[in-house]
Amino acid sequence: MSSQKLLGAVNSLGLNSLLELFKTSRFWFNLISAYGTYKVIYYLFLDPLRRIPGLWWSRFTDLPFRIRRFRGTQVQYTHQLHKRFGSVVRVGPHSVSVNKACDIKRILASYKFSKSKVYDNAILDAEEIFSTRKEQFNRLRRRQVGPAFSTTGLDSVEDIILDVGSRALKKKIETGIEKGNGSYTINYFDNFQSLTADIIGELAFGRPFGALESEKPSIIRLVNSTIVISVLDAFMPPVKYIPFLFKNYKSDKKQIIDFSNSCIEARRKAIENNEFSKDRIDILQMYLDAHDLDGSPIKKKELIAEIVLMLIAGTDTTSVTMTWLLHFYLMYPEVYKKVVAEIDQAFSEKSTVIRYKEARQNLPYFQATVYECMRMKPAVGGFLPRDSSSDGIQLSDHYIPPNSELLVFIDGAHNDESVWTSPKKYIPERFMGENGKELAKNLVAFSSGVRICAGRK
Ligand code: HEM
Repeated sequence: MSSQKLLGAVNSLGLNSLLELFKTSRFWFNLISAYGTYKVIYYLFLDPLRRIPGLWWSRFTDLPFRIRRFRGTQVQYTHQLHKRFGSVVRVGPHSVSVNKACDIKRILASYKFSKSKVYDNAILDAEEIFSTRKEQFNRLRRRQVGPAFSTTGLDSVEDIILDVGSRALKKKIETGIEKGNGSYTINYFDNFQSLTADIIGELAFGRPFGALESEKPSIIRLVNSTIVISVLDAFMPPVKYIPFLFKNYKSDKKQIIDFSNSCIEARRKAIENNEFSKDRIDILQMYLDAHDLDGSPIKKKELIAEIVLMLIAGTDTTSVTMTWLLHFYLMYPEVYKKVVAEIDQAFSEKSTVIRYKEARQNLPYFQATVYECMRMKPAVGGFLPRDSSSDGIQLSDHYIPPNSELLVFIDGAHNDESVWTSPKKYIPERFMGENGKELAKNLVAFSSGVRICAGRK
């Protein structure tokens, strides 16, 4: 068809006049008014979340809420919203925050309210226990790794944990004090982070990373880079495809994959050469022995994703909690004195190494201080996003329709005044005795229900 004929056809369709129309301001004014009218009608009469209280903008956008996340003020901000609007607050066109402990426990109890789609962006491009939204897959992985976190499993590695963890840190501090003629400066957070990484290194990678011994442990950098690049990949997908963007983070992520690979091969070789003790039940071994749904061994890519995930899930959470606990002891010397007195009374021999089971049995006040620390400073203090399922859910104050996002607000649950008296105060005594045991059931620092933290023991 010649270009003249084509132009003729366009003219006959009236497209020219349509183009003219697009150029007029009246057209755009009418279009915007029509859209605005539709939106007003929608939000007033049709929007499924229209009865959920919240600030006006939450009907249209969640941008102000997201901005606060990047500013680091989202938790305080959401507390204010709940104070003003109640236990269920709308924070975006499809999202509500929930802060009542009983509602939260119902949401988390079953697989019905699955993790929402923000979890889809897996950390290492392979499905793993944490980010999967599939019930069957999650059940399978939890069953496979479960023995490593059972009492028998943990007993089998307790000496390794003590060697790589508390004994190594004690030695480091003693050497430091000796070298400094009685004076030594220590950054507790950095050291707790290294200690936790070394322990998870032993259990999930089959070897410690030597982080505690090092001044600037590379494993910590690799973990941090992997987290950063995974978040960037999730929120800015082009980053993945443009090689020169965030090159260093990408190279660190590759290093952690290569390192994981070498650890897996080293363990396989040790088994082949009968150099690996069958009594040792650890995370790496559980996954190496496990089979996928089709009966084949877990693929290397998935295995790497699982062990790196353990490192990411366990390192900062545990070390941040340990740091807060120490901070509370420094802020409340009377609490610290009580902890020391309890230990002295239960274990009069100073050189005794206190084991996990003994601590559980004999140190109730110490445990109470840990619970109260985790209540006030949960390491995952923000939100656990869940889907409201195809049926929706009736919470204590509101019905949430299907296709909504339920933001389980952990810090909110830990400050719920219908459960906790004076929630802003550090009072470990609240967890003592039979009532204290009951109260502890309202803690959700490790989440709750079917997706509760696999490493909580
Ligand atoms: C004080 C320390 C810890 C805290 C506060 C903590 C907290 C949590 C929370 C809140 C979740 C749920 C996350 C969600 O639903 O999005 C979770 C899940 C998980 N955590 Fe932990 N965690 C801790 C330590 C650990 C350790 C040491 C490990 C392993 C070495 C670990 C492994 C996991 C895994 C595998 C999951 C996913 C469980 C699933 O989805 O089925 N965590 N943790």
